[in-house]
Amino acid sequence: MARATMYFPPDFLWGTATSSHQVEGNNENNDWWAWEQEEGRILNGDKSGVACDWWANAERDFDHAAALHTNAHRLSLEWSRIEPEPSVFNAAALDRYRAMLQGLHDRGIEPMVTLHHFTNPRWLGEKGDFDSDLMVDYFQRYTTQVVDKLGDLIPKWVTINEPLIYLFFRYLGNEFPAPRQKGWGAARRAIHTMLKCHAAAYHTIKESYPESLIGVAAHIRPIQPPADGGRLDHYWARQMDWLFNDMWLEAMRDGRIRGILGRGTIKGLAGTYDYLGLNYYSRSLIRFPRTQPEPCPDGAEMSDMNFMENYPAGMFHSIKRLLRYQKPIYITENGLPDKEDRLRPAYLIAHLREIWRAISFNFPVMGYYHWSLVDNFEWERGWSQRFGLIGLDLGTQERQWRPSAHLYAQICRDYALSSDLTEQYAPTLLPVLFPGNS
Ligand code: FCB
Repeated sequence: MARATMYFPPDFLWGTATSSHQVEGNNENNDWWAWEQEEGRILNGDKSGVACDWWANAERDFDHAAALHTNAHRLSLEWSRIEPEPSVFNAAALDRYRAMLQGLHDRGIEPMVTLHHFTNPRWLGEKGDFDSDLMVDYFQRYTTQVVDKLGDLIPKWVTINEPLIYLFFRYLGNEFPAPRQKGWGAARRAIHTMLKCHAAAYHTIKESYPESLIGVAAHIRPIQPPADGGRLDHYWARQMDWLFNDMWLEAMRDGRIRGILGRGTIKGLAGTYDYLGLNYYSRSLIRFPRTQPEPCPDGAEMSDMNFMENYPAGMFHSIKRLLRYQKPIYITENGLPDKEDRLRPAYLIAHLREIWRAISFNFPVMGYYHWSLVDNFEWERGWSQRFGLIGLDLGTQERQWRPSAHLYAQICRDYALSSDLTEQYAPTLLPVLFPGNS
């Protein structure tokens, strides 16, 4: 039988992604920790607890990342550790992050660092956080500390993770720790503040490290009408799709915010990105006039808890929609909750195949960071969702490679996805992805 291989470029970055609160453990000083203590906030009353014990021993998982043959890792810094009280910076915490970043470099793994990944120091709430312009000043000061103490070890930066998810879940939904005020008015103020924070951080980093690459990790999710949707549903899906997927990126491009979340120009914002970070998971179907997604189509392949549909075509389309920004693209997150690894091997292969297809069209996709390296605390869904290539036993802290970890290790080692691997890990995909082989 003929064999075929899809090769990736020799300078491609093969990575995994995590965030501080989800893996470090004992982040007692942030708003999520406080939220977890309130009844009914987190599924099954779960708590982050020691999580994956990274504060004491991230290096154990860095060894796994190296064994996976990855050469990149995306992680975030915990602001509440670095600045436990307003304007008080913790040297020991910065030293620990230095050791972690150095530990990645020593293993041949390039770090990409996120400054804000959903968590805030508790004290910031009292100052009004994204409701207040004070936030911009505080965020800039925090960034300055990070740049001064750690900047030499950080070639790639994400200022803010998934700004629109943060906005929707915190200001318009109930999933994330509640701000002082909610609703569209508060969301409008928050998005302005977030854009200003992003711009301030961008310029602060660039001043000291002009060569570094800075962007955001945007959750791009095609929003479509259901198959039987009428004209209004089509119109509505287009509006929501633009708001969720394009509004922020267009604002970063030309400095102007438009649409239902406000109008106006933000000083210093235009052009504040050197690459585009794309977090891609799945799509949503929407019917007028709702904002909550419809159930997935009949026959769709669903992850654990029916949480998301396996929809690889959306990866290619999401990459394509970013081309107009004319910058390199990194897939900063992609993965699914799948404790038994029932779907993950096929999901991984099919999504990498879409990325390979995009690269074959000369689209500038430079790297891929799988979410996630190891099972971790999945926000309002607690420990019920397992996104890790590597499984975690929370009680014993033992790790176990899932089959997809072995699969990913071979892909990363070879910079290639072959029909042999596909046959071994996801045989049903063989006739689809390698038609000549079956
Ligand atoms: C993304 C988040 C990340 C993780 C994955 C599953 O929206 O950025 O922290 O929760 O989803």
